[in-house]
Amino acid sequence: AVERTLSIIKPDATRRNLTGKINAVFEDAGLRIVAQKRIRLTDAQAGAFYAVHKDRPFYGSLVSSMTTDPVVVQVLEGENAVLKHREVMGATNPAQAAEGTVRAQFAESIEANSVHGSDSAENAAIEIAFFFSQIEIVG
Ligand code: CMP
Repeated sequence: AVERTLSIIKPDATRRNLTGKINAVFEDAGLRIVAQKRIRLTDAQAGAFYAVHKDRPFYGSLVSSMTTDPVVVQVLEGENAVLKHREVMGATNPAQAAEGTVRAQFAESIEANSVHGSDSAENAAIEIAFFFSQIEIVG
């Protein structure tokens, strides 16, 4: 089925001017960028977005790492978009990411791992609504 997923190009990647190279990986995989904006997250926004991880030891560091530089938030659309996006991102830890994936090519560390993607269709709907209104998504 055609799905949408929420993608974030993280500060480590925008800092190194990798937005276009990462978008090319997504587009080559058949994902269509149907909404996109470059924003700077506040601490409160990053903390709220990652609230599901608030009891994890890396939460504070993760939240502050998301505010050091701009992020590019985007909605990707395509057949099986959630899974397809996760496949092309590669494993969370770049040391375990398959060759050719975004994280294998570009990530600096498990925290500075260049991209975020929703992990299910249900969470995709929640995460898309966190950043975008319906009129900003043009399929
Ligand atoms: P992301 O897919 O955005 O989801 C949560 C983020 O927490 C993850 O990518 C990493 O950037 C960050 N993180 C830092 N340390 C860890 C860890 N040990 N395990 C999982 N995620 C981590």
